[in-house]
Formats: sequence, structure tokens, C-alpha cells
Amino acid sequence: MKILAFETSCDDTAVAVVEDGFRVLSNIRITQKEHEKWGGVVPEIAARLHAENWQSVLKKALDMAKCEISDIDYLACTQGPGLQTSLLTGTTATSFLSLMYQKPLIPVHHIYGHICANFLERENAEIKFPALVLTVSGGHTQMHLWESEMDLFLLGSTLDDAAGEAFDKVSKMLGLGYPGGPIVAKKALNGDRRSIELPKIYLERDSLNFSFSGLKSSVYRLIEKRKEDVDHRFITNVCASFEYTVGKIFEKKVSRVIERYPEIKQVHFVGGVSANVYLNEILTNLCNEVEIEFLTPKSIAYSTDNAAMIGAAAYRLIKKDKKRGAIQYIDAQSQMNLEEFLNGL
Ligand code: KG4
Ligand code: ZN
Repeated sequence: MKILAFETSCDDTAVAVVEDGFRVLSNIRITQKEHEKWGGVVPEIAARLHAENWQSVLKKALDMAKCEISDIDYLACTQGPGLQTSLLTGTTATSFLSLMYQKPLIPVHHIYGHICANFLERENAEIKFPALVLTVSGGHTQMHLWESEMDLFLLGSTLDDAAGEAFDKVSKMLGLGYPGGPIVAKKALNGDRRSIELPKIYLERDSLNFSFSGLKSSVYRLIEKRKEDVDHRFITNVCASFEYTVGKIFEKKVSRVIERYPEIKQVHFVGGVSANVYLNEILTNLCNEVEIEFLTPKSIAYSTDNAAMIGAAAYRLIKKDKKRGAIQYIDAQSQMNLEEFLNGL
């Protein structure tokens, strides 16, 4: 089964062709560089660039997969959550293709897409339930107990900033650019992780929620205090200490879940921040200690926003309920609840 999937929830215009829910025939993405100079995503610019770029990204994805729309079985796209004006390009383009080519269209929840990224280029049997999924992106930091393909139970989420957003803000405060995650990670390689003590906010003893705004504010105060004296050494040390602190927080929260749910067979780390090498090392070591398998997307291209993960998610939705895919026009939904989306089947 071939699925042509679109993802336009933020600042990447992405189209992919995915076969049988795991084989990636193409995965094309245009990242909108224009946002860099503003230090964050500007919705109006994102909307204009999605509208300008989707047709060329679609053509490249079909060419690379060596197929035409007539060879496609299903269309899929991110319906939400995300920036409404960005989502609109994906929902409108796929709705248009659905009506024009009489192909069923599957709306997909963005977070369910990230979670399904771990199916890409893996055999289905490699995913073992129940699993703990830690989803960390620019907009989300959540842990779910994943009990079967369509069965996710929310264990905890951030009470304020997402971890990816904190990476982006630290980068901005240090004048390093956007998106901050990869830049902070690179600077951290040359810094001393123990040089600056930053607050590790674990919340109450048994809490599975996260909070990153205090950590972000501490970095802000630290930078304010240094004023003109923000040199290379200080920058690398802040980045390294920040990454170290985020690692400690993830380590603590994942440990708490594993203690509470001893039946967990795997820990999955997905979303843009799962591209982070240091955080992967921390979680790999933790999982090795407790002899639980650790899985992260097979490629960085499947960690950050991409359309292949939307194809993988759509495949699971079709398997569960073939009626879900209608020839239809769908609306973008900037706010979408994952549990309601999955239970709506
Ligand atoms: O999943 P994603 O591509 O988009 C959203 O759904 O938000 O995640 C983007 C986030 C950004 O905050 C970016 O800074 C972060 O992922 N990110 C990273 C790394 N690569 C991307 N954070 C830490 N280390 C990285 N290597
Ligand atoms: Zn995302």
C-alpha cells in the first residue's frame, strides 16, 4: 500500500511516499531559512512559503519514489496541532488531490505522527508493547504509555515550555540563531557540562510532568549578569550545562515511569529533540542499566518534522478502520487532542 503524505504544521514543507507503513520511497522537505533572521517562526512568512513550495516538493517526492498520483492508494496529511496558517497548505492541497484524483484522504494528528516515526525502516515486530514514548519537540514534551498501536495513555507533559522551545530560547538569548537545538548541541561539545549549576526541576516526588521555564529563566539571569562578558568559553559552558540539566530531567522522569510500570519493554524517544546525540546517550545508558530496549528514529530526518512519519501513522489508522479514509475535504485544526483523535476511530 502506497501513501502520499504531507506535513506542513510549522516551518517545513514536507511530502513523502511511504509503502506498507515502514518503507520510505521518498521523504522530501524544504526548510524555510527565512525565519532564521527573526529568531523564530513568523506565521505569515511560513504560510506564504508553504503555498509557494508545496507543488515542487510534491513533484520531487513523486519523482524520487518513481510514481505518479495514480499509483497512490491513500493520501494523508497533518490536520493539527500546529500553526493554523501553515496547516492550511497541507490540508487544502491534499483535499484538492483527494477530490481531483478520487483518492481517500487520512487526517493525522502531528504527535501520533512523531510517535509512529519509530516504525519507519523497521519491521513491525521490532516495536514491542507496552512501551514508554517520550515525545520532545518545539511545541511538546510528553510521555505516553503506548499499549498497542492505537492505544496511548498520557503519563505526563510539560506545564509550561517544551524542551525544544527551551533549546531555541537559550540559543536566542546567547545570540546564536534559530533553530536553537542543533546549535546549542554543537556549542555544548566544547563546554564543561558541570561548570554551571542550573535548576533541575523535577516537580513533586511522584510527578511525571515537566517544567522548563525556570531553567530558561535561570539561563536568562546568568546571561544578564555577565552583560558584556559573554565570551566563547561562557557560551559553550552555558550550552553544555543546559544540555546536561535537560538530560538529568529526562533521566529522572523516564526512571520514574520505568519504576512505576515494570511491564515496559521499550523506551522510545521521538520528536525534533530526539536528534540530540547527548540526550540519546543519556537515555541509552539508562536503558542499558535497566535492560530495557531503547529506540529512536532510524534517521535524524525522521526525528524532526517530516512527512514520512505522517505516512507511517496514516497506515496504522487505515489498518484499524478502513472507513476512516474518505474522499473528502478536511479543515486544518490548530488545536487537536491526541486521545480524542485516537478514540474518534
Ligand atoms: O519535531 P520538530 O521538528 O518540530 C515541532 O514539532 O516542534 O522539533 C523542532 C525542535 C526545535 O525546538 C529544535 O530546536 C529541536 O527540535 N531540535 C533539537 C535538535 N534538533 C532539533 N534540539 C536539541 N538537539 C538537537 N540536535
Ligand atoms: Zn513536530
